[in-house]
Amino acid sequence: MKALLASGGRGTRLRPITHTQNKHLIPIANKPILHYALEAIAASGIREVGIVHNADSQEVPNNIGDGSRWGIVITYIPQEAPGGLAQVVRLGEDFVGSDDFVFYLGDNMVVGGIARFIDQFKARKCDCLLTLAQVKDPERFGVPEMREGRIVRVEEKPKHPKSGYAVAGIYVYNKSIFEAVRNLKPSERGELEISDAHQYLIDHGKKVDFCEITGWWKDTGKPEDLLEANRLVLEHLEARLDGSVDASSTISGTVVLGSGSRVVNSTILGPVILGNNCVVQDSTIGPFTSIGDNTEIRSSEIEFSIVLERCRIHGVKKRLKGSIIGYDVEINETESQPGVHCFIIGDQSRVEVG
Ligand code: G1P
Repeated sequence: MKALLASGGRGTRLRPITHTQNKHLIPIANKPILHYALEAIAASGIREVGIVHNADSQEVPNNIGDGSRWGIVITYIPQEAPGGLAQVVRLGEDFVGSDDFVFYLGDNMVVGGIARFIDQFKARKCDCLLTLAQVKDPERFGVPEMREGRIVRVEEKPKHPKSGYAVAGIYVYNKSIFEAVRNLKPSERGELEISDAHQYLIDHGKKVDFCEITGWWKDTGKPEDLLEANRLVLEHLEARLDGSVDASSTISGTVVLGSGSRVVNSTILGPVILGNNCVVQDSTIGPFTSIGDNTEIRSSEIEFSIVLERCRIHGVKKRLKGSIIGYDVEINETESQPGVHCFIIGDQSRVEVG
């Protein structure tokens, strides 16, 4: 069994964060999303992993390296231009050869690992195993239509979904998927859709089975998904205080405080993770908040948010909530013009003022 991991694409729905960073490397609880996928793959016993990445960027290879950190061997497969997930599978054919494999979308996060999907695929001698998760908004996803406990159709982003399930971005295949992706035509949006490949398998009498994801699963395609994934990961945090907390501060709930970080006259309401070399002074942080390394927060309140590395947040009078703040951002109380807002923000930023 091998794994093929998708990490390409432009992440347009996550701008402006993705103007400077591949969406698969955005940190959730201070760890890049892609690392969670690699951990799950390594824990399932898979050792050979192919990563499909944007050909014009070395960001993913530079961040991930050769895989030895996870005890796996990585082969990088460049993708010249986004062309749909079925095209990603096509690109992986030489790497996969005639092995069975897990196709894992690097922006998907799942709790509980992937070993049970592989076990079911093997036990039931499937050609394809889809993982399904119940969702409120199936029209955003590939959606199965079930009859008598079997999948009879899979539609990509249907206007009228035939079930309340999404096909999650973790699939187990044998080599019959390569015949399917070779025979597809681009969809209306000009992409080779993975759902059409699944339909091809069904239409050609292949055994397409499914396994329901009962814990949580997230496709981190939109900003709200990042915040929700962050909340869910933080719920499983293990407390560790490597930094210092002064006597006038209060820490409650599960909190990780990185080394060299200082909490002064502040309240931290877990679950919260604070990276290394941060300063929190006269502030309240949490719950459900991740703060990256080398960030300073003074005289401010932040809840249910993700703050990336090297930010400075000073004197923000109203509580920041549901916010994603990129690298090297400064938010200061204005001294020269009291009562006005002053923004110097990049393209496609979103600000809500109250
Ligand atoms: C893709 C697939 C879709 C699947 C989803 C899971 O959609 O096309 O079938 O349900 O991943 O994350 P995308 O996230 O590219 O819109």
